[in-house]
Amino acid sequence: MNKQEAQLEISRLTKALNHHNYLYYVESNPEISDYEFDQMLKQLQDLEQQFPDLADDNSPTKRVGGDITKKFESVKHRFPMLSLSNSYSQEEVIDWVERIKKTIDSKLEFVCELKYDGVAIGIQYINGSFFRALTRGDGVSGEDITTNVKTIRSIPLTLHGDFPPDFEIRGEIFMPLASFQKLNAQREDIGEVTFANPRNTASGTLKLQDSKLVAERNLDSYLYAVYSEYRTVSTHMESIHNAGKWGFKVPKESERLIEKVDSIEGIMGFIQYWDEQRVHLPFEIDGVVIKVNSYEDQQKLGMTAKSPRWAIAYKFKTERVETILESVDFQVGRTGAITPVANLTPVQLGGTTVKRASLHNADQIEKLDLHLGDSVYVEKGGEIIPKIVGVNLEKRGEVDNKIVFLETCPACGTPLKREEGEAQHFCTNDLYCPPQVKGKIEHFIGRKAMNIDGLGAETVDLLYENELVRNAADLYELKFDDLLKLNRMAEKSANNILKGIEASKEVPFDKVLFAIGIRFVGETVAKKLARYFKTIDQLMEATFEELIQVEEIGDKIAQSIIDHFNRKENRAIIDRLKLHGVQFEMVQSVMESATLSGSTFVISGVFNAFSRDEIKTLIENNGGKIASSISSKTNFLVAGDNMGPAKLKKAEDLGVPILSEDELLLMLKQNA
Ligand code: IVH
Repeated sequence: MNKQEAQLEISRLTKALNHHNYLYYVESNPEISDYEFDQMLKQLQDLEQQFPDLADDNSPTKRVGGDITKKFESVKHRFPMLSLSNSYSQEEVIDWVERIKKTIDSKLEFVCELKYDGVAIGIQYINGSFFRALTRGDGVSGEDITTNVKTIRSIPLTLHGDFPPDFEIRGEIFMPLASFQKLNAQREDIGEVTFANPRNTASGTLKLQDSKLVAERNLDSYLYAVYSEYRTVSTHMESIHNAGKWGFKVPKESERLIEKVDSIEGIMGFIQYWDEQRVHLPFEIDGVVIKVNSYEDQQKLGMTAKSPRWAIAYKFKTERVETILESVDFQVGRTGAITPVANLTPVQLGGTTVKRASLHNADQIEKLDLHLGDSVYVEKGGEIIPKIVGVNLEKRGEVDNKIVFLETCPACGTPLKREEGEAQHFCTNDLYCPPQVKGKIEHFIGRKAMNIDGLGAETVDLLYENELVRNAADLYELKFDDLLKLNRMAEKSANNILKGIEASKEVPFDKVLFAIGIRFVGETVAKKLARYFKTIDQLMEATFEELIQVEEIGDKIAQSIIDHFNRKENRAIIDRLKLHGVQFEMVQSVMESATLSGSTFVISGVFNAFSRDEIKTLIENNGGKIASSISSKTNFLVAGDNMGPAKLKKAEDLGVPILSEDELLLMLKQNA
């Protein structure tokens, strides 16, 4: 392909990718499969690599991140970034409306919106292209976080329609609750400290230097104001509609995320609706915002030093209940982290009965100065279990029952350790402390690790209690008779467990590496390490300097890997796993055969051991054909994570068998 042809192809792919990205992330209505999308993106990436000077700053390839920002430059805002005055009661909102009526005597219209609980952003577009994104900063100047904001898929990189040549759009970037909970679950699993709430996490994420990490965190946005010298509309509502037409994610009237009203009753209706319904939103809000709709009226009302007079925020009272702190449990996680959990007298909160609350760590207990028997205030935030936010001191009794953090592990008695600068206490007896041992085995057998069917936490408990397992390698030495001795273990289940353990010997090296549970080594890091070092032996021999050469491996992870392999006990487990045939090397050469000839495959979702391209090559090298959409001619659907429900349903309706990547590999191996 010559340069001219490449240019044409790049522009065709860019247009198509932007369009399909919009359909997926803004409209939630995709027209093509994820596979087709990824194929196009890959083509574009290849072309950009071949012709680097044709790569645009706003190419859809920027979504995946990769660029590093060493220092976020401070830039002056063209229009100061103001804040809103807050109100907390109906009376305050009524007073605000009455004040406005003194200046505006014509009929008033208001627009009610949600007050998204995230980070304010101002993005400048020049000639329809993303130019620069600034944080609020002190309102006068903000930090340039352009590279990171470009990874947020609901924010367009190029616009369509009739947009002004130069304008700024403002809105809120937030972390959806599902992304937040998933991120925290992953962090907890590898022994990282969890994040406190979605807002702070969104804010911290936007300040990460590596935009690739930002891309992985799944941030989202809603835009709420357009600033331009070229105004063609006369109301706020029209400008929101326009922004939607240019490609921005703006609140939909059909979902009542935005509403035009002309009375106090209208405003109150909106407030009341969302005060009740907000628990069902997939993101957090902390109130609603009411704005005067007409720009002319807004101009007349003007602003105070800090905030416009034409808008007001109504803040919801966070539902808070009072109950008794009965006791505190100290839980030991698989990494040895000690988490205090409060047991409460059951109480209703946000439609559910609350019995437990998270206390996070020793500092939290100290800060709240908690005593047993205290009457405590409990609130729900972005976390699954609620938190204690304060104590009703008036109800505190005479006896001094102050909660003291444990000095020794509640499970094994080992003195707890707290590293300088860390919030968490740890039990260091990682090889013998029962909950840690069991937790490590549970992690090892998990779906994303060795995926051992038939085994669950309960059976691991039984195996441990019966002294049949003390580490992952012991699983491979279990005998049928050992299992039958366990309480309520039927022959069929015992067989299933043994079959599951046998099948796990086919699990690829990167998952094995994740499964062995090195602290701070999550799924992605394990994959990177496996691809880089290829074998466990090379990884075990790697020096600190060699380890930090690998993408995404910093000092902390590198040290943790070194510490893990320095322990002879850990090496012994690996030796035994090796003897039992567990995979400790990347499968080097792709198998070739005619096993799959005559079969057509559709690939969908995200895979763990292989990239989508590798799966495709694997199928093709073994005689199979790839199709982009499911039809009656499809023989198999190879499904990864996050596959669209529509596709799954179609496969089921047409009776197309669904394979996981492991099952595909097994199919190839069995027929080899
Ligand atoms: S309008 C002139 N609308 O609330 C004020 N702000 O203190 C322009 N916020 O930092 C702001 N949702 O980030 C507006 N629908 C909404 C909002 C909203 C959240 C945030 C905004 C600002 C803070 C106001």
